[in-house]
Amino acid sequence: MAFIIAVDGPAASGKGTIASRLAKLYGYPLLDSGLLYRGVGLKVAQDGGDLDDVSVATAAALALRPSELEQPELRTRAAGELASRVAVHTPVRQALREFQQRFAAQEPGSVIDGRDIGTVIAPAAPAKLYVTASAEIRADRRWRQLVGQGEAVAYDEILADIRKRDERDGGRADSPMTQAADAVLLDTSEMTIDQAFDAARRIVETARARSGNLPG
Ligand code: DC
Repeated sequence: MAFIIAVDGPAASGKGTIASRLAKLYGYPLLDSGLLYRGVGLKVAQDGGDLDDVSVATAAALALRPSELEQPELRTRAAGELASRVAVHTPVRQALREFQQRFAAQEPGSVIDGRDIGTVIAPAAPAKLYVTASAEIRADRRWRQLVGQGEAVAYDEILADIRKRDERDGGRADSPMTQAADAVLLDTSEMTIDQAFDAARRIVETARARSGNLPG
């Protein structure tokens, strides 16, 4: 079985950076599954559709093409909100599931980050991390990043955004954001990104030794 590394957690927890550095370290392909939901949300919004309309959102999910995942707008704050809204619809999640599972199954291994990778997409993944940090710290990181990019935005607005997204992603009926029973919790609140990556690497090495999938 492929050595799947599932990295779940809330927005701005550091999971994206950790996942991308793990992928580089092991030479595995990386899938940022949030981009798929962002692609669906943006497509619906660009077509002037209703994000809460399950058939409109599902049609967008079924029509999504990999080339559409390159758009820089997908990385914006607004696209994150659109993504979280379409992600509540079960048929949207189903439409994106097979692509993620095929990606995950690539030999010799893969890294996927998201909200439901360890619970729903790849429940048998040998390495699972749940990366988190307090809402205030995540908001502060995101705020600094946006200000650094020249966006004029208030910290309180970002904190409110993060809380709303946590609530929607963790409260939805289908595949809510939650730590898998066998995932290792990594709270990065008091860590630099280098410390968080180092801790993640150690968690993956432990899982690798346990699964008998030794490097080399
Ligand atoms: O990781 P991100 O911020 O790019 O994700 C954007 C939204 O997409 C997130 O708020 C909820 C949704 N999402 C999801 O429901 N399941 C995933 N595996 C990844 C993202």
